[in-house]
Amino acid sequence: MMRRVAILISGRGSNMTALIEAAAAESFPAEIALVISNKADAPGLATAQANGVKTLVIESKPFGKDRAGFEKLLQAALDDHQIELICLGGFMRLFTAEFVRRWYGRMLNIHPSLLPSFPGLDPHGQALRAGVKISGATVHFVIPETDAGPIVMQGAVPVSDDDTPDTLAARVLDIEHKIYPQALRLLATSGVQIVGEATRTSAGVCSDDNLIAPSVI
Ligand code: GAR
Repeated sequence: MMRRVAILISGRGSNMTALIEAAAAESFPAEIALVISNKADAPGLATAQANGVKTLVIESKPFGKDRAGFEKLLQAALDDHQIELICLGGFMRLFTAEFVRRWYGRMLNIHPSLLPSFPGLDPHGQALRAGVKISGATVHFVIPETDAGPIVMQGAVPVSDDDTPDTLAARVLDIEHKIYPQALRLLATSGVQIVGEATRTSAGVCSDDNLIAPSVI
């Protein structure tokens, strides 16, 4: 059964595009039924429309700190479109604990670091300052705390001595676009269960799935 998904964006929407493209395949178990932006000038809106996906703008700015007021409109739009799952794709607005509780287990976020390392702002700058040799991206269930929650999938990339936050961001973004559709596929097929603060999944791991950096040979 096709699960009805809404993607929430605030900007560019490249993860949104990756999800829309993956969901275009007939075998994909979810349908991107709606894209909602909290900013009218989000470039991702035009991309969604060009892909034939329905878009809505619910400006959050007029609500200021009234998060519940904004979420009332958001929830009404999600109800109107019979949305079952939410994917956040660079959605830059915090939720109330009540909204998060309502969607717990049905709302995913992607963050460009190997959580729990480097949550919040400037994850690539944080990674470079910490001197890690491997970074990556994490898809996780949303909880009230920012960039935290049961991890569904992670993808890793090497960090080079020459990296800047921009070059690292570009490498990580490629892996984001690979793992987000796979994580949504898992969720849409009930292939991932929350167990305490972690998850268990029906997907396997491959013994070749290793990454060592730097590479000496
Ligand atoms: C992505 O890199 C995503 O991981 C990040 O915002 C970017 C949005 O790009 N999200 C966070 O940092 C969440 N804390 P996109 O609009 O092109 O998908």
